Amino acid sequence: MSKVPKIAVVGSANVDLTTFSDRFPRPGETIFGQKFDLGFGGKGANQAVAARLCGADVFMVAKLGNDLFGEATVKNFASFGIDTSHVRIVNGVSSGVAPIFVEPNGQNRIIVVKGANDTLKPADVDAAGEALKRMDTIVLQFEIPMETIAYTVQFAKSNGIRCIVNPAPAQPIDPRQLNAADYFIPNETEAEVITGLPVHSFDEAKKCATALLQLGFRKVLLTLGSRGALLASPESSELIPPFPVNPVDTTGAGDAFIGSFAVFLGAGLPEKEAVIRASLYAALSTTKVGTQKSFPTRAAFESEWDKRGGTP
Ligand code: RIB
Repeated sequence: MSKVPKIAVVGSANVDLTTFSDRFPRPGETIFGQKFDLGFGGKGANQAVAARLCGADVFMVAKLGNDLFGEATVKNFASFGIDTSHVRIVNGVSSGVAPIFVEPNGQNRIIVVKGANDTLKPADVDAAGEALKRMDTIVLQFEIPMETIAYTVQFAKSNGIRCIVNPAPAQPIDPRQLNAADYFIPNETEAEVITGLPVHSFDEAKKCATALLQLGFRKVLLTLGSRGALLASPESSELIPPFPVNPVDTTGAGDAFIGSFAVFLGAGLPEKEAVIRASLYAALSTTKVGTQKSFPTRAAFESEWDKRGGTP
C-alpha cells in the first residue's frame, strides 16, 4: 500500500452471541439450534477490525461495560493493534451485546442491546479530539447516540477530515445533521427507512439514491447485498456488480465493506476501484462464520483479488 491510511472509528462494540438453526422459531415455539458461536462484534468494532486487517492505522473511540465482555473487548482490539487509548470502561451499564440468529442460507436476524454504547457522548469525541485531528478518515455508524454522530460529522467537517456515515441499524434521520459527511453508505433496508422508498430493483435503488442525494448527501453508496452496490453522486450513478461466493453467514459483511472501503479510498485508490475491492472483501467475509473472525487479512484478500483478476 503506497500510503498507510489513518482511520478513526467513533462507534459501537458488542459481543455477538450467534445461533445457527434450520429455521427461525415461530412465536411461542422452542426449537433446537445446530451450532453456537461467541465472538466480538458491533458495527463500529467490526469496521475498525476490517480497516486494521486491510492495513490501516486504526484509532477506536468507544465505551464498554464494566463486565467480562468489556475487558475482553479491549484485549481483542489490542490484539489487532488498534489504538484503544479512548476505549473506556464505564460502570453501571452492560457492554453492548447482540443475539444473532442465522439460517442455513446465511441470512441473519439481529437484536442489539446497546448498553455502554449509548453512553458515548460528544464530550468523548472532544476528549479524543487531538488524536482525531490527525486522522485521514472518521467512520460512524448508528449504534451510538445520534447527538454524538451529528457532533462528529461536524467535527470532521470543521477539521477537513473525510467522514463516512453508515446509517446502520436503520433509523429515521434528520439529514441536516449528517449531510456534511463525504460518503453516506446505507444498505437497502436503511435506505428504505430513511427515504420511505422501496429498494427491490436496480431502478428503485437508483430512485432511492437520488432521493438521498436530494437530502443533501454528496455521495451515496447503496449496498445491495448479493446484487452489488450502487455508487451515486449528483453527476452520475454506477452499479458495481457483486463477486460470486457461496455464503455461510452474511453477518458483518456490511461492516467488512465499510472498513475496507475506508482503507482502499484512504490509500489513494480511485473511488470506483475502492468500491470494487470493498465488494470483494465483503463477499469473502460471508464465506466464513462469525463477524470479525470471518474478515480476511490483507494478504488473503490480495491473493483472491489476483485470482479473480480484480473483476466481479
Ligand atoms: O453488522 C453486524 C453487527 O451488527 C454484529 O456484529 C452485531 O454486534 C451488530 O452490531
